[in-house]
Amino acid sequence: MGATGAVGQQMVACLEERRFPVAQLFPLASERSLGKKVTYLGKEIQVEVLTKDSFKDIDIALFSAGGSISKEYGPMAADAGAVVVDNSSAWRMDPEIPLVVPEVNPQDIALYTNRGIIANPNCSTIQMVVVLQPLHAAARIKRVVVSTYQAVSGTGQKAVEELSAQVRALFSCQPVEKKVYPHRIAFNCLPHIDVFLENGYTKEEMKMVHETKKIMGDDSIEVTATTVRVPVFYGHSESVNLETEKKLTVAEAKKILAQAPGVKVVDDPAKNQYPMPLEAAGQDLTLVGRIREDFSIKNGLNLWVVADNLRKGAATNAVQIAEILIQDYLK
Ligand code: A2P
Repeated sequence: MGATGAVGQQMVACLEERRFPVAQLFPLASERSLGKKVTYLGKEIQVEVLTKDSFKDIDIALFSAGGSISKEYGPMAADAGAVVVDNSSAWRMDPEIPLVVPEVNPQDIALYTNRGIIANPNCSTIQMVVVLQPLHAAARIKRVVVSTYQAVSGTGQKAVEELSAQVRALFSCQPVEKKVYPHRIAFNCLPHIDVFLENGYTKEEMKMVHETKKIMGDDSIEVTATTVRVPVFYGHSESVNLETEKKLTVAEAKKILAQAPGVKVVDDPAKNQYPMPLEAAGQDLTLVGRIREDFSIKNGLNLWVVADNLRKGAATNAVQIAEILIQDYLK
């Protein structure tokens, strides 16, 4: 669902790359996509328009068409017998619905039986918890301060087009148009992702606070976030500051992260080696580097965490959930 979108296209690519055992693929989108095709394993498949009958005889429905579509059609798909893996924020904080990052809380997938829906977390949260979890297990994280540098593809295909159109317009002395963001994104940074809430934070920032606690199964972890949109096409970066109960040296943290599932340590400053969105894009690992002690507190660490927001931050995580579903549950 949402097969023509930025995340939907990656979902199809992930299913193909990971050799997911698809008997039949049904790409769904809106009327705007009538006549469009999706290529899957060399075959062109017609995109169909979403209707309430779209989910008959479907085993797994991957949703990435926005919150309102998920709210309306997610339960319909579940009632029709599909297990929904939903990439929107519609169901993430529903206590009956599991919110899963396979490297962190794969056991929660079992709770899909509650409502037939599993929620895929927010992109910035996924890449952060993949790194936090092994450190938490070793030293108990008390507090996280995170600032993000998020790519425009997280907003969707229209935002990717807006950034490239603005760059082209600027270099050819044409007027710059802005439709997706309230300000120009080319050569700018917007400390504004999703809507502003009464507490002064954005919804994206509060997603990082609440979703981290739910995925890691620990309400005692305090999180504060500032989320920023930057003129990068693919790959979110995060500056993460941690305070732990137990002391973790840099060497210990590096050793733990080097063994953590889904994580790759890229940390050799002497050779200019550190994670960057250009390197993270197009692959599935979460890269971590700039691992150093925070000297301003007793037990503190600073990290720089980068991942492909459309892949591990969305499509890959959803397909990994689907893989566990078919392996352990939908036999
Ligand atoms: P469409 O391309 O037909 O508009 P993105 O996140 O890149 O903006 O993509 C959103 C995805 O969700 C697209 O595949 C889009 O289809 C789909 N979508 C958005 N609104 C609807 C809707 N009302 N009904 C069906 N699909 C929708």
